[in-house]
Amino acid sequence: MRISVIGCGYLGATHAASMAELGHEVVGVEVDAAKRARLAAGEVPFFEPGLPELLAKHVASGRLRFTDSYAEAAAFADLHFVCVGTPQLPSSLGADTTYVEAAVRSLAAHLTPGGSGSGGPTYVVGKSTVPVGTAAAMAGLLETLSPEGTDVELVWNPEFLREGFAVQDTLEPDRVVLGVASERAEAAMREFYAPMAQRGTPFVVTDYATAELVKVSANAFLATKISFVNAVGEVCDAVGADVVALADAIGHDARIGRKFLNAGVGFGGGCLPKDIRAFQHRAGELGVEEAMSFLSQVDTINQRQRQRVTQIAKELLGSEVSGRRIAVWGAAFKPDSDDVRDSPALDVAGRLHLRGADVRVYDPEATETARVRFPTLTYAASAIEAAEGADLVLHLTEWKEFRTVDIDAVTRVVAGRRLLDGRNLLDLDAWRAAGWQARGLGRR
Ligand code: UGA
Repeated sequence: MRISVIGCGYLGATHAASMAELGHEVVGVEVDAAKRARLAAGEVPFFEPGLPELLAKHVASGRLRFTDSYAEAAAFADLHFVCVGTPQLPSSLGADTTYVEAAVRSLAAHLTPGGSGSGGPTYVVGKSTVPVGTAAAMAGLLETLSPEGTDVELVWNPEFLREGFAVQDTLEPDRVVLGVASERAEAAMREFYAPMAQRGTPFVVTDYATAELVKVSANAFLATKISFVNAVGEVCDAVGADVVALADAIGHDARIGRKFLNAGVGFGGGCLPKDIRAFQHRAGELGVEEAMSFLSQVDTINQRQRQRVTQIAKELLGSEVSGRRIAVWGAAFKPDSDDVRDSPALDVAGRLHLRGADVRVYDPEATETARVRFPTLTYAASAIEAAEGADLVLHLTEWKEFRTVDIDAVTRVVAGRRLLDGRNLLDLDAWRAAGWQARGLGRR
């Protein structure tokens, strides 16, 4: 089928390339000229394993191209995916839906009663993460703004991809959620996603509001799991218990599960922090603020992990951090990504730097994105270089290379053998055996 993908950031670029891989013909609409030029040249403007190959393959095959023209998209396809961002508003905890609205408005202005010529109805499919109620408002906008006689319908189809696994999550999702207003819309979406149905992917077909809520509830639940285990980790620290053994033990209960119970410096990125705030904010607007008030605790616990790291850093150094050299391993909010939005690692690095520490940051992929946000930090070219002369090493993003680092090589270059594993994934016994004072968060 012919589709357009409006907004070619993380979500859109991945969706566009993945849908081309499924055999569809795709035009990506991207208004940022620099980003569009790179995508059109087959280059991905961010780090995402597997995506550059897929994008280049389908730019070359001709199944994927990019434009800034909504008119071109409307003339090309009858299925339009809205994949623009919904960042946190500067003035409140709410999400900014103006890009979603602008995309719907721009597209609606170019729709025509005949559609792209296929004779069928036009579907506008929202994938962005939005406050509940947005889809109904967008459906109303489409109806009002589309030229008279245009047969157009809205579908809400949230996306659950994780950065670092974006292609796999898009091509092999755990489920497909469709918020629809008619049986024909459901049939059209089922036809579009037929390869997924053939793989046995469950389809959940529901109304707009439920589809919107599924997405924010999933992220809120994941955030709650992480803050739960981090809160328990604080208690573990108070009594000398071990949160990793505890998470393993409770995780064996299939009702709980082990995933998203990794205690550490907490969650960051462009989704979980923003989404729990927007969910609370929207609940408030709907008059059910109390129902979601626990999410402010989830947020507070998460923020506290960053303070805990700086506090433990101080304890390990035995004094203030000012004037001490600290190696920070990791800048991205998670491994296999160069995304530093609300990154716990970079936040901690920034806090220590502001307190006068000489902070040397190393990240395998996120140095350039980090430098844009925190130009005053010092960036190293390797884990060892960051550790040279350091009084303390902080492990804050769990890239695999930090787990396999040559401990002897690090030992030779540091000024003091002090390690804080802010992700609880290093072999503390091995570091201790090399003479290091090594701590985790909530670990013995
Ligand atoms: C998250 C969701 O996992 C996706 O399902 C969703 O589609 C996406 O948001 C989105 O809304 O677009 P993502 O932000 O890529 O995906 O990252 P996650 O893998 O969820 O990790 C989020 C943060 O939690 C990271 O900082 C990670 O280090 C942290 N985390 C994760 C923990 O601290 N502990 C854990 O046990 C797991």
